[in-house]
Amino acid sequence: MKGNPEIIMTLNAILSQELAAINQYVVHSAIDANQLYNKLAKKIMHRAQEEMKHADLIIDRILFLEGMPIVSNLAEINIGIDIAAQINNDIKAEQIAINIYNKAIDQAEESLDEGTRKLLSHNLKDEEEHLNYLEGQLSQLTTLGKENFLTEQI
Ligand SMILES: [Fe+2]
Ligand SMILES: [Fe+2]
Repeated sequence: MKGNPEIIMTLNAILSQELAAINQYVVHSAIDANQLYNKLAKKIMHRAQEEMKHADLIIDRILFLEGMPIVSNLAEINIGIDIAAQINNDIKAEQIAINIYNKAIDQAEESLDEGTRKLLSHNLKDEEEHLNYLEGQLSQLTTLGKENFLTEQI
């Protein structure tokens, strides 16, 4: 089905954000696993896998709309070594994702592209859950302090 070229461009912009998030989260997970914070590493890897599913769905949609998925563009990646930096950087990534998904949903609605709008809303719901979880982690880190927080993550 021939899709609107502007929608395909937006889907590729979302794809670059998803691919950047995957890279960022895989590295954060590896940093934490390397320090034997295995519970934390596992949770971040699970989030990376959800972003992979999003990227996969976006690629499928671009192909369905007869566009070309661009996987060589990455949005900004921000790696944090310290746990607080990791959480803050991941919060930023999720906020950016939520913003572009919301704008893209508006665009899909205006273009009367219900299939794309549905897919975007499905992914957006996950991004909102990711952000909510990360905000919870940040407040736990502040309340418990770094040492206590990390003790729970072994
Ligand atoms: Fe995502
Ligand atoms: Fe996310």
